[in-house]
Amino acid sequence: MKALSRRTEVFTDSIIRRMTRISNKYDAVNLSQGFPDFEPPEAITMRLAEVAGQGPHQYALTWGAQNFREVLAKKQFHFSGISVDADKEIVVTCGSTEAMMAAMMALADPGDKVIIFSPFYENYGADAILSGAEPIYVPLNPPEFTFDADKLEDAFKQGARIMILCNPSNPCGKVFNRRELEIIAGLAKKYDAYVITDEVYEHIIYEPNKHIYLASLPGMRERTIICSSLSKTYSITGWRLGYVIASPEIIDRVKKVHDFLTVGAAAPLMEAAVTGLNFGDDYYKDLQDHYTHMKDLFTGGLKNLGFNFTEPQGAYYVLMDVSEFGVKNDVEFCEWLAREVGVGAVPGSSFFKEDVHHLIRFHFAKQDETLLKALNNLEQLKKKDVLR
Ligand SMILES: Cc1ncc(COP(=O)(O)O)c(C=O)c1O
Repeated sequence: MKALSRRTEVFTDSIIRRMTRISNKYDAVNLSQGFPDFEPPEAITMRLAEVAGQGPHQYALTWGAQNFREVLAKKQFHFSGISVDADKEIVVTCGSTEAMMAAMMALADPGDKVIIFSPFYENYGADAILSGAEPIYVPLNPPEFTFDADKLEDAFKQGARIMILCNPSNPCGKVFNRRELEIIAGLAKKYDAYVITDEVYEHIIYEPNKHIYLASLPGMRERTIICSSLSKTYSITGWRLGYVIASPEIIDRVKKVHDFLTVGAAAPLMEAAVTGLNFGDDYYKDLQDHYTHMKDLFTGGLKNLGFNFTEPQGAYYVLMDVSEFGVKNDVEFCEWLAREVGVGAVPGSSFFKEDVHHLIRFHFAKQDETLLKALNNLEQLKKKDVLR
């Protein structure tokens, strides 16, 4: 047989999605892949039922339905103060996953260097490989996940034209503060680089932290490519609705990439999701309260059980330190944990460029009973003869 592409040879399957399959296999409480086990807002699903009868059922405009883009532009202005031209500055994509890929394809040539903070969301490595870009990883240092501005500048000095910024961050739950964002903005301007932001957790923030949109900083609007999605904000990860917001010149290119990648996002789902984009401030306040409740329940439980973990400032993940168990191989440990303890987690090594094998990631976007069951199972961990 002839060889397959060299570009994709290095791919493994996604460890996050693999852990979901493993959790299912052992009937473990699945706290690995980040998706809620509660229903989306009823107003959205009721609207979907109406749309099923009325349509649209055919292709929407390739860069997204007009009403969806218009209401999204309004929402973006409301929360970030950034005014967005719905016709020229938005592309609706199949999730933020496609948004990131389309942005990378639109910006990067093979061999271009792209800065990625480590730990990072695993798709960025794949985005870089598929677009031909070469990642330069800059560490975020636990436990606060701060970065060294000189190290970041060194990465820009190596000729990076693009930086990817996940804020709030998966997996470490970091929310970048204004001072940190100013450092990033200053370097992007100094070295004339673009920043692609992944802001899918923009509305999942814990007090007193605040989400600041990098694009709202002086001089950053034209060099920031915002990628985000409806997956997490409206608990509709399966709808695959995301978007890119950027200047008209960039969006013009992203539109073309997107057209050939997927043609467009699902027309009936866009129509139904307009209901969510129209929600008032109360919805976002309730969302924040709900996530704060889940975070407090889960992290409070971990604390009571005596585990060490990072306290998230945003997003819905906890990195738990399992070094007390002498774990050497976190991948095998997570499979063992699903099989023997009944809780699915993601091995931390899949998020770090550095040699880190003592952290595992749980997510807590779950109903109380699911989280309580997971905590109950985790209690066993202290009593078991742990696989090392
Ligand atoms: C940081 C981050 N970006 C992007 C995604 C994917 O988002 P979407 O469902 O919009 O493709 C996820 C999903 O977990 C994520 O954690």
